[in-house]
Amino acid sequence: MLFTSIFIFVACSIEFTYCMDKFIAAVYEHVAFFPDPSQPPVSQEEALAHMNRNIDVLETAVITAARKGAHIIVTPEYAICCFDLNRKNVFPYLEDIPDPEVNWIPCNEPNRFGRAPVQERLSCIAKNNSIYFAANFGDKKRCNASDSHCPLDGYYFYDTTVVFDPEGKLVARYHKYHLFFGESQFNAPEKPEISTFDTPFGKFGIFICYDILFYNPAIVLVTLHNVDTIIFTTAWYNTLPHYSAIQFHSSWALGMRSNLLSSNLHNSSLDMTGSGIFSPNKLGPYYYNKTVDEGHLVISELNSYTRNTTEWAPVQWHEYASHIKKPLQSSKVFTRKLLLDNYTVTELTEPQGYASVCHNHLCCYLNYSMMEKRNDEVYVLGAYDGYHGPYQVFYIEVCTLVKCMSLENCRTATDTAYTKFESFSLAGTFQSTIVYPQVLLTGVQLDPDVFEVLKDGRLVNKPKISFKALLNINLLGRNYMKDPTNLNISKLS
Ligand SMILES: *[C@@H]1O[C@H](CO)[C@@H](O)[C@H](O)[C@H]1NC(C)=O
Ligand SMILES: *[C@@H]1O[C@H](CO)[C@@H](O)[C@H](O)[C@H]1NC(C)=O
Ligand SMILES: *[C@@H]1O[C@H](CO)[C@@H](O)[C@H](O)[C@H]1NC(C)=O
Ligand SMILES: *[C@@H]1O[C@H](CO)[C@@H](O)[C@H](O)[C@H]1NC(C)=O
Ligand SMILES: *[C@@H]1O[C@H](CO)[C@@H](O)[C@H](O)[C@H]1NC(C)=O
Ligand SMILES: *[C@@H]1O[C@H](CO)[C@@H](O)[C@H](O)[C@H]1NC(C)=O
Ligand SMILES: *[C@@H]1O[C@H](CO)[C@@H](O)[C@H](O)[C@H]1NC(C)=O
Repeated sequence: MLFTSIFIFVACSIEFTYCMDKFIAAVYEHVAFFPDPSQPPVSQEEALAHMNRNIDVLETAVITAARKGAHIIVTPEYAICCFDLNRKNVFPYLEDIPDPEVNWIPCNEPNRFGRAPVQERLSCIAKNNSIYFAANFGDKKRCNASDSHCPLDGYYFYDTTVVFDPEGKLVARYHKYHLFFGESQFNAPEKPEISTFDTPFGKFGIFICYDILFYNPAIVLVTLHNVDTIIFTTAWYNTLPHYSAIQFHSSWALGMRSNLLSSNLHNSSLDMTGSGIFSPNKLGPYYYNKTVDEGHLVISELNSYTRNTTEWAPVQWHEYASHIKKPLQSSKVFTRKLLLDNYTVTELTEPQGYASVCHNHLCCYLNYSMMEKRNDEVYVLGAYDGYHGPYQVFYIEVCTLVKCMSLENCRTATDTAYTKFESFSLAGTFQSTIVYPQVLLTGVQLDPDVFEVLKDGRLVNKPKISFKALLNINLLGRNYMKDPTNLNISKLS
């Protein structure tokens, strides 16, 4: 930490009159008012009234966060508009959002770029509360027939996150690149955009929701642009056993050694919940609540500079496993589907012991000891090395210790478990250089004090593990080099 402060002093004194090696961040999980997508398009005034209902709630969160000393607040994707709408009925909600280069404070000059009531209001909220305010809504850009990609209605529509600084100035604008299935109201920009901005508490970068699964711009922001903190706006469907919001997003912060301010939309019937303030050395605080539909504010202090700390030394994820001499696979192995993929699995039939499974090039090794072997719960060790899902959009290497509904059914994920473990050590022969470590407890809970990652790539328990029942333990490798979009890139990161 001492070294960090020295670096920061040097780095900061150049550009800023003051600088901070810690800051307070807030993320707000919002229950949005959605218009009925089956209704015909509304007028611009009706659309604005609708968005203002959402912004009223976000404003209250901003005021509360600012009173508690927050320097920045992040609000979710689709918190203001546009969820589930088609191209026709999304149109009245959109504004033309200029490139931040124009140096614009909408609160002071609301009409400089035409009609922009949403930008004006967001800018005034940031200015009024002297806070960085990140919000998501829709940008529209006219295009014409000379551009062969221009949609028939003559516009590009973008899922957009904007940031206003404490003076109300528009300092960042990011257009989502990796649109999720069904987001057909929006267009992807031609190329991934690198959107960053500097603050007295480090360099920030932005990406949105599904972007987090891919190399560009998410990984590029951290590895090539040295971003310390990511603004992550999302509307995330929880998908166990590996992609529940708080689970995957916290593991991304650990694996990338970056702060991640993760703000999710809340809708329990869509299984959307889970927001948090994640950093390389602290998993949370976070919010996850499936039982009530209420907004929630999370606030926490963070280190400003994540890439510069003295502990920074990359984990060699394959190191330990590649020195295991004979990868003796456990005697009884099966193929079981987890999520969409066929894993090779073996059941943990004993209260303690050793298990090992291989799939393609990946072998996974586990030592474990349960407090008690229950007859009513099945845990398996699984390995998977291949493309995820039928569309083959990204390549994963996964070692997973997971509770299954039964030995026949690992596919239906469960969020409840009773078995407690006394110890575990999980390692794999990864080719991925980036692996996301996860330990998920019953009820979809995280506890940073129950595990650690060793520099040789082992994911091991800490003593406190024996207090909590365990849902799953995963090393989720992403071999970005094998993604279809990256196959022609010779070297990544
Ligand atoms: C800004 O704050 C002032 C004083 O509290 C208040 O009167 C005004 O309505 C606020 N404006 C906005 C846009 O929040
Ligand atoms: C097409 O768009 C470009 C850029 O907006 C503009 O300069 C040009 O005049 C437009 N052409 C036509 C035929 O509208
Ligand atoms: C959750 O989403 C559904 C589907 O869009 C919507 O009908 C419902 O009103 C939402 N519930 C809440 C609490 O936002
Ligand atoms: C969810 O929120 C409700 C109401 O605030 C609370 O009673 C309940 O304990 C919460 N559940 C969890 C899992 O935090
Ligand atoms: C630390 O961060 C500063 C500012 O971002 C940068 O100039 C410097 O190169 C970094 N030092 C190390 C060792 O990464
Ligand atoms: C998964 O395994 C099942 C049964 O062995 C097989 O029918 C199916 O084709 C496999 N799916 C993939 C994607 O390999
Ligand atoms: C498990 O324990 C055995 C015996 O102590 C050791 O050889 C092996 O490397 C361990 N494996 C892991 C993954 O920790």
